[in-house]
Amino acid sequence: MKEMAVSFLFLFFFFTVFATTTVSNPIFFPASAHQSLIQSKGPKSKTPYKALFFPQILDHFTFLPQSSNIFYQKYLINSDYWDSGPHHKGPIFIYTGNEGNIEWFADNTGFLFDIAPKFRALLVFIEHRFYGESKPFGKDSYKSAKTLGYLTSQQALADFAVLIRSLKQNLSAEASPVVVFGGSYGGMLAAWFRLKYPHIAIGALASSAPILQFDDITPWTSFYDAVSKDFKDASKNCYEVIKGSWDDLLALSTQKEGLVELSRTFRTCRDLQSVYSARDWLWSAFVYTAMVDYPMEANFMMPLPAYPVQQMCRIIDGFPPKANKLTKVFSAASLYYNYSQTEKCFDLENATNAHGLSGWDWQACTEMVMPMSCSNESMFPPSTFDYKEFGDDCMKKYGVRPKPHWITTEFGGNRIKQVLKRFGSNIIFSSGLRDPWSRGSVLKNISSTIVALVTEKGAHHVDLRFASKKDPNWLIEQRRKEEEIIQRWIDEYNASFLMDN
Ligand SMILES: *[C@@H]1O[C@H](CO)[C@@H](O)[C@H](O)[C@H]1NC(C)=O
Ligand SMILES: *[C@@H]1O[C@H](CO)[C@@H](O)[C@H](O)[C@H]1NC(C)=O
Ligand SMILES: *[C@@H]1O[C@H](CO)[C@@H](O)[C@H](O)[C@H]1NC(C)=O
Ligand SMILES: *[C@@H]1O[C@H](CO)[C@@H](O)[C@H](O)[C@H]1NC(C)=O
Ligand SMILES: *[C@@H]1O[C@H](CO)[C@@H](O)[C@H](O)[C@H]1NC(C)=O
Ligand SMILES: *[C@@H]1O[C@H](CO)[C@@H](O)[C@H](O)[C@H]1NC(C)=O
Repeated sequence: MKEMAVSFLFLFFFFTVFATTTVSNPIFFPASAHQSLIQSKGPKSKTPYKALFFPQILDHFTFLPQSSNIFYQKYLINSDYWDSGPHHKGPIFIYTGNEGNIEWFADNTGFLFDIAPKFRALLVFIEHRFYGESKPFGKDSYKSAKTLGYLTSQQALADFAVLIRSLKQNLSAEASPVVVFGGSYGGMLAAWFRLKYPHIAIGALASSAPILQFDDITPWTSFYDAVSKDFKDASKNCYEVIKGSWDDLLALSTQKEGLVELSRTFRTCRDLQSVYSARDWLWSAFVYTAMVDYPMEANFMMPLPAYPVQQMCRIIDGFPPKANKLTKVFSAASLYYNYSQTEKCFDLENATNAHGLSGWDWQACTEMVMPMSCSNESMFPPSTFDYKEFGDDCMKKYGVRPKPHWITTEFGGNRIKQVLKRFGSNIIFSSGLRDPWSRGSVLKNISSTIVALVTEKGAHHVDLRFASKKDPNWLIEQRRKEEEIIQRWIDEYNASFLMDN
């Protein structure tokens, strides 16, 4: 049970669920091919931008012969609102891409499009290396540690820095202030970018950025305790049914006809080979629903109604108390997998095993070691986390061992308040407490310029989404504060810029 619980989360961490494109970018491709890749937005995209490719350096940190190789890094640009006048160019808002296709992040970061007109800002979304179409070795990028070795957060931050400098030069916008934005892992990158490259970005909005989910800064049980709290807050019965269902599931694995019965109950497309795929399928439904417990209908990882945790618990509570627990939890999970009402059957085994080696899996096995375990009080089966076991697993998969303390060495995190109140400025850490990642985020103000904007009912970077008519007041207020603080950064920059010149 133990090992699976943890590696499972990493495999599906945040949102690796959506498909990534398979366009292959060889390291060197000719200029003509480059041109043909410059395309405008695809038909499915909700947000307006132009897609471009930047010849990016493969290895920013060594001077070996192969370090100067390049790959094509995708970025999206929208200049509809930009004040590009000769004297007072408006600010540049950059989204620091995370583990996925950048167009998908642009579509889910409506906040930038909402505020661009007011700030007369240029919008740029930069894809993270090794994701989407920015794969340095094309189809072979995930093949082995030889290629994946170039996938690190430090390389990604350096990519952003190099690209931003080039872009500003090309646009004759050297004086324009840059503000970086990001959500989730992208939020971590935004915050770290401000700390590492203060000469390039004047500030960062880091939404749902669990930069404290490393070492033992945050209790290892906090993530799953937070998921459990969401369900318990919705209904105690709901929490107890889910908590009790895992044993029932395991019990079936020892019964003769157990898997057949389970396959029927869970309406699987194929007969289940083990109860573990059912367990993982349920597990991810609960974790992701807690993460995206948004106050409005949304389609982030899956289409879901407003406040989906409450909806799931309503389904569970709607059954007679004596009804089969597995039927109850199956029905609840169906809300996550079948809100669109289009699923004929559920492909459980494929849903949990199909991903193979992914970029995030590699990151989790190298730098991004976030220890997590389940306490006795959580609604998941109790588990522990063991560095050695985790490392052995990574060794088997990739032939490398994690450096579990590298992130806190490189970016800090321990005693963050004492450190950052004396060093660093202009970072907003925004969080919603319904989001289990909030436990590893910065939830307290550090100084007058490194602030935490925390909402009790918020979920995973809900503030970065497009504004909608149904937005509750707490969300409107959170975004208003964010705009106000960003405006202050720009005003201060303007003032000092005028003074120093
Ligand atoms: C200050 O920043 C704003 C963007 O908010 C810009 O429109 C304005 O031109 C800048 N003012 C000066 C004096 O540069
Ligand atoms: C800036 O212009 C140079 C020369 O045309 C080009 O190679 C580079 O890709 C451009 N930078 C960006 C960020 O597009
Ligand atoms: C999905 O929902 C539709 C509509 O309620 C239903 O007909 C279908 O059976 C559901 N699929 C599964 C696999 O339960
Ligand atoms: C998983 O689903 C994909 C299509 O969504 C299919 O091509 C593939 O064969 C399935 N894999 C298994 C193991 O069933
Ligand atoms: C959890 O429960 C088990 C079995 O009841 C017990 O041995 C263990 O000490 C408990 N762990 C914690 C952290 O309370
Ligand atoms: C941090 O300070 C800001 C004001 O700058 C305030 O709006 C916010 O509520 C504070 N955050 C916390 C967690 O106290």
